[in-house]
Amino acid sequence: MAFSETMSSLFARLRGSRYSSLPEDEAGGQGQGHRERQAVQGRRHKGAIKLGVGLVSLAIIAYLVWNTVNVVDHPPAGCDTPKDGFQCHANTSHLWGQYSPFFSLTFAQLLSRHGARDPTSFKSLVYRALVARIQADTTSYAPGYAFLRTYRYTLGSDQLTPFGQAHMFRSGLHFHHRYRALLHDPATSLPFIRASGQARVIHSAQNWTAGFHAGLASSSPYPPPPLPYPILTIPEGPGVNNTLSVKLCPAFLTGPASIVGDAAQTEFLPTFAPPIAARLNAALPGANISDAEVPLLMDLCPYHVVASPSPDAPLPEFCTIFSYSEWQSYDYFQTLGKWFGFGPGNPLGPTQGVGWVNELLARLTDRPVRDGTSTNASLPFPLGRRVYADFGHDNEMVGVLGALGLGGGGGEEWVRVLVNGRVMGCRLGRFVDSMKFAREGGGWERCFV
Ligand SMILES: *[C@@H]1O[C@H](CO)[C@@H](O)[C@H](O)[C@H]1NC(C)=O
Ligand SMILES: *[C@@H]1O[C@H](CO)[C@@H](O)[C@H](O)[C@H]1NC(C)=O
Ligand SMILES: *[C@@H]1O[C@H](CO)[C@@H](O)[C@H](O)[C@H]1NC(C)=O
Ligand SMILES: *[C@@H]1O[C@H](CO)[C@@H](O)[C@H](O)[C@H]1NC(C)=O
Ligand SMILES: *[C@@H]1O[C@H](CO)[C@@H](O)[C@H](O)[C@H]1NC(C)=O
Repeated sequence: MAFSETMSSLFARLRGSRYSSLPEDEAGGQGQGHRERQAVQGRRHKGAIKLGVGLVSLAIIAYLVWNTVNVVDHPPAGCDTPKDGFQCHANTSHLWGQYSPFFSLTFAQLLSRHGARDPTSFKSLVYRALVARIQADTTSYAPGYAFLRTYRYTLGSDQLTPFGQAHMFRSGLHFHHRYRALLHDPATSLPFIRASGQARVIHSAQNWTAGFHAGLASSSPYPPPPLPYPILTIPEGPGVNNTLSVKLCPAFLTGPASIVGDAAQTEFLPTFAPPIAARLNAALPGANISDAEVPLLMDLCPYHVVASPSPDAPLPEFCTIFSYSEWQSYDYFQTLGKWFGFGPGNPLGPTQGVGWVNELLARLTDRPVRDGTSTNASLPFPLGRRVYADFGHDNEMVGVLGALGLGGGGGEEWVRVLVNGRVMGCRLGRFVDSMKFAREGGGWERCFV
């Protein structure tokens, strides 16, 4: 899904590798990739491997999600569709050994960012003041920039936009569609759902469950459980153990590691912002826009897009006054902030994701959590479920991806193996090391005894 696409292409770019992310459809059609990825014939086999980390994740770039989920809204025709795979004769076709066109899922875990939101309240003050200053100081507006003269800053703060709510709803619908095979038993028809305690995250979980509910209601042979679904909310704050919003690591929050992301951005800024600032200042005499203000002005493009009531609306003018290559630089600039602020580029970034990964391991193995970082042993943590859904923030997700070893880093190349659409990836060095069996002959001599 969108987040993983975004993240993987972003990671690929950072390490300069030639690999790019795999489009969903390439992995066997919409909806099939994950199913196959997590697939092994037979939950009925003892010790069936829970292959799946359905790290389905959402939208830093909301458009991708929109595109992704739009596709699922058209119901499939017939039993053999690219979207659903070969679902005909389901009673027996699972039992056809290696000739079966089927895979079966055993487990899915969603880790989702909240939906698209307005700027944080702090940033709202920054944007408002910047716009006011530009309008106060600018003496004339060049063609193409006149909209700034009358522009009024009206964005909200902190909460999901209607667009963000809608895409969480669609994500829930999509998730139900994709993973419904895991949920056919009324007793286990709901995922165990957790949300970090900030309002927009809780609302995201609620909107997602509403979409999930709609999916269940439209396809289930029994009435779905009534809304609202239970959501375990874990408070956010200093000293609170919360694997979905980690504020427990002093060295990360206020120590030297806390400035690594900003430092990376500050270093990159002079490589792209000065020509943009010069162009803006030529078009807006008196505005005196600094290099550091360039990305702030660019921020207003995506914020206005996700605040727009319609995703089909024309792009806001804040988008069109910047060129394609300027957006490339902006994207890289933001990526640096995440990678070095929260991800593998930060000495303590992946450490922040360890608590959630240990919870994932517990869920995959049905064994109690073993963790000494950010989990809270007093909170309910049911095991034995087939589907779990967690909602949090992008910063923590970047740490989780780092802790899962999915971030790469150090410029080393990665090996990616696709097995039935499932991506198995690891660093080249680690991959070669792990091939001990093959490198040491693989027992070939036993063929000749
Ligand atoms: C298919 O399986 C269901 C139980 O899952 C059973 O009730 C039904 O009779 C089966 N249909 C056939 C044609 O075997
Ligand atoms: C999203 O959730 C919020 C809070 O529960 C609710 O007010 C809003 O109507 C929901 N939106 C959608 C599209 O479900
Ligand atoms: C752990 O969870 C319990 C139950 O919600 C709560 O009372 C306690 O404050 C939490 N402890 C920490 C350290 O977060
Ligand atoms: C332009 O802004 C910079 C700070 O970004 C300030 O130091 C400088 O004095 C300003 N120039 C004018 C002409 O206002
Ligand atoms: C919270 O996390 C700390 C480690 O950071 C751990 O020592 C403590 O036991 C945890 N608290 C609970 C209630 O699990």
